[in-house]
Amino acid sequence: MAKDKILVSGVKPTGRPHIGNYFGALRQFVALQDDYKSHIFVADLHALTTVQNREEMEENILGVVLDFLAIGLDPKKTVLYKQSDVPQVAELAWIFDCLTTMPYLMRAHAFKDAEAKNKEINVGVFNYPMLMAADILIQDADAVPVGQDQRQHIEISHDTAEKFNRIFGDTFKVPVPYILESVATVPGTDGQKMSKSYNNTIPLFATDEEIEKAVLSIVTDSGAGKPENVYAIHALFKDKKELDELYDEKQGKYKELKEALIEDMKNFIRPLREKRAEFEKDKKAVLEIIKQGGEIARSRAEKKMEEVREKVGFKLL
Ligand code: TRP
Repeated sequence: MAKDKILVSGVKPTGRPHIGNYFGALRQFVALQDDYKSHIFVADLHALTTVQNREEMEENILGVVLDFLAIGLDPKKTVLYKQSDVPQVAELAWIFDCLTTMPYLMRAHAFKDAEAKNKEINVGVFNYPMLMAADILIQDADAVPVGQDQRQHIEISHDTAEKFNRIFGDTFKVPVPYILESVATVPGTDGQKMSKSYNNTIPLFATDEEIEKAVLSIVTDSGAGKPENVYAIHALFKDKKELDELYDEKQGKYKELKEALIEDMKNFIRPLREKRAEFEKDKKAVLEIIKQGGEIARSRAEKKMEEVREKVGFKLL
């Protein structure tokens, strides 16, 4: 099949990915790379809103690329790059800033949450959705696979494309989100949505000890013989029929059910962890992948920006 649809998505390098990130978003990147012209990047410009330490930034960026490679993203099929290698996105974000009103951005969840918590909000956090719209629109994306939490950001990109097109003439494709509804929200060890901010995550590249500790800490107070939280997480790793048989057989035996989950999770994670360690040994090759991906993404972006500059009236024909 000819790949004619373009896919774009990014991951912010702010720490280790967890299984919620994987089942909610990351694994789609791998599944879709055969059907789309895929562009997956490390959103380092976005990370600067919170990560303001050189060593940490460098380590996190490289870490995300290792994660990408370990889960099976293939640089021959997917353009892998880091956002800061495409500075055109910052230029485009500025243009979008000038078309977007403050009250519109003040309705964004991320901003409202930060404000509700009385956090000190930098301008980058406020403008975050404009940079994200630029990431997406500059590559002419058709599909943007993301986790449920990013839905509003995609809607903002959608509105921004329409607004630019209305003012300056048809320029941008209007993107659609691609969210796996069935697993869009993965529960954490406490039953709430798995999220770093709730401290209830299980790392995707966890060691065996971390897996044991995390699974044993899953809260089980649902009574009725079936630990719902354990079941919901186990359902990610086991076929539903087999899982239901296991739960029938071991009704009420919470400890054994957790042990079964530990086993399945270890078998799933181990090869990923080993693959990541392999790539980690060859930093030079990984840097070369990032460099080449950056060149491709940047040249596409520059082409698009030439059109944008002309539409806006910067080009002086
Ligand atoms: N905001 C996304 C997140 O926090 C990361 C991101 C930045 C992104 N730019 C993007 C995702 C463009 C999809 C498309 O996960």
